[in-house]
Amino acid sequence: MSEAVTRTVTTSPGLLASLDPLLREWLPRQRWFAGKGRPVTGFSPVAATELLPPGGKLGLYHLLVRAHQPVTPVPGAPEPPADCYQLLIGEREALPPRLAPALIGHVTEGPLAGRTVYDALHDPRPGELLLEALRTGARIGALRFERDGAQEIRSALVPRLVTSEQSNSSVVYGDTFILKLLRRVVPGVNPDLELPLALAREDCDRVPAPTAWFHADLAGESYVLGVLQPFVQGAADGWELALRELAKGEDFAAEARALGRATAEVHMALARTLPTVTLGHTQVQHLVDGMVERLEAATQAVPALRPYAPGLRSAFEALAGLAAEGRTWTAQRIHGDLHLGQCLRSPGGRWWLIDFEGEPSKSLAERRMPQPPVRDVAGMLRSFDYAAHSADLPVPGWADACRAAYCAGYAQAGGADPRTDPVLLRAYETDKAIYEVVYEARHRPDWLPVPLSAIHRLAADTGTPAPSLPSSPPAPRRPRP
Ligand SMILES: Nc1ncnc2c1ncn2[C@@H]1O[C@H](COP(=O)(O)OP(=O)(O)O)[C@@H](O)[C@H]1O
Ligand SMILES: [Mg+2]
Repeated sequence: MSEAVTRTVTTSPGLLASLDPLLREWLPRQRWFAGKGRPVTGFSPVAATELLPPGGKLGLYHLLVRAHQPVTPVPGAPEPPADCYQLLIGEREALPPRLAPALIGHVTEGPLAGRTVYDALHDPRPGELLLEALRTGARIGALRFERDGAQEIRSALVPRLVTSEQSNSSVVYGDTFILKLLRRVVPGVNPDLELPLALAREDCDRVPAPTAWFHADLAGESYVLGVLQPFVQGAADGWELALRELAKGEDFAAEARALGRATAEVHMALARTLPTVTLGHTQVQHLVDGMVERLEAATQAVPALRPYAPGLRSAFEALAGLAAEGRTWTAQRIHGDLHLGQCLRSPGGRWWLIDFEGEPSKSLAERRMPQPPVRDVAGMLRSFDYAAHSADLPVPGWADACRAAYCAGYAQAGGADPRTDPVLLRAYETDKAIYEVVYEARHRPDWLPVPLSAIHRLAADTGTPAPSLPSSPPAPRRPRP
């Protein structure tokens, strides 16, 4: 048993103050930092747990800190709380060269003065400590480690940090497990643990079943901090695979069909085990109001969208119209952020869905709300379109074939064929494409033609004449969906 699990929480007076100037520089540079574009003006501690004592070869702190940033006030709305981040801070006298990329900085004052601090996940030792705590169901200060007793966790697996671009941070243990550490954390039930656990109860084998997890219990609130699950060995994600096939000029219809089946299986299992609700006129009108509001904000922000606004609005009005006539829909828990990059295929050809966090920019309450499952379908269809546009050589009809195959696979597995509800599907695809237009205009203007071509199609769906599409330059390779 490691010494870490017997130590208790320390408030480490002065610790955060001494790290403050370094974290202000370092945190905004991290891929997973959510508050890009606004300076960090200070930190406040939520919890500090000493995992290894300072001053030795390696000291280790688990920190939950709020990063304060200026916010634009919204009239009548309370100021949102500052984002809370999970940090694992290592401290040493000096960093060996292999840890240079993990450097946070050299501390000049406070309890760690003279020491070098770094992102400890780059070091194997903290990964070992976390696995041991998960394996033994440890309690360390406010940190609570829990596990599924039915799954075995071998000790002494070798950890390695996943270095690909991620919204969180993951550690792989000897190709057996993967531990996802959530970086921006919020109190409450987190769908990234809740949904895979619910699916495991339903014996749904499309999602790796959580093996162990940990959270912090603070002032009556629980923050989910990490989830350990079996590692799908030798897997490639759907985005990589789709691009690979495109580069060879191959179609992807068989894979899209299998993905459709996997999606339907997950949806059906979620609908069996978690509450569903019926959406009537009032609820659908509320959904439509949100879509129209996002359209209006988007046309303000992106002038290229303006000629399409009436056509796009008609997609939403058609849905409200059906609801006014008495049509109802079933809403249920869904993935919430489904795209090719959230699907893994193992070498045997089996598809898995991962990352049930939902849209990280939304509140937990919004992410946990039942929604029409077509919303996930729309996300995947948009992802096929993005992949098709990122090929060096376009493969005519590639995305259309994926689209048809995915919907057919979905129906084959027992889901309702999304194509039988074209009004609902169009509304969700339109909402998603509008989101993409705003995102690309802000972050990757070269990519704007991709969602704009979908906007052109979706706006024209009504039979009203659409403005002619401006010619677009070829998009650069390999965007993330
Ligand atoms: N169970 C798993 N087996 C193998 N690889 C995985 C597994 N879960 C996640 N990954 C890999 O880690 C990456 C990030 O995981 P994900 O849950 O999507 O985290 P994030 O929230 O950071 O996007 C995935 O794209 C995938 O490559
Ligand atoms: Mg992901």
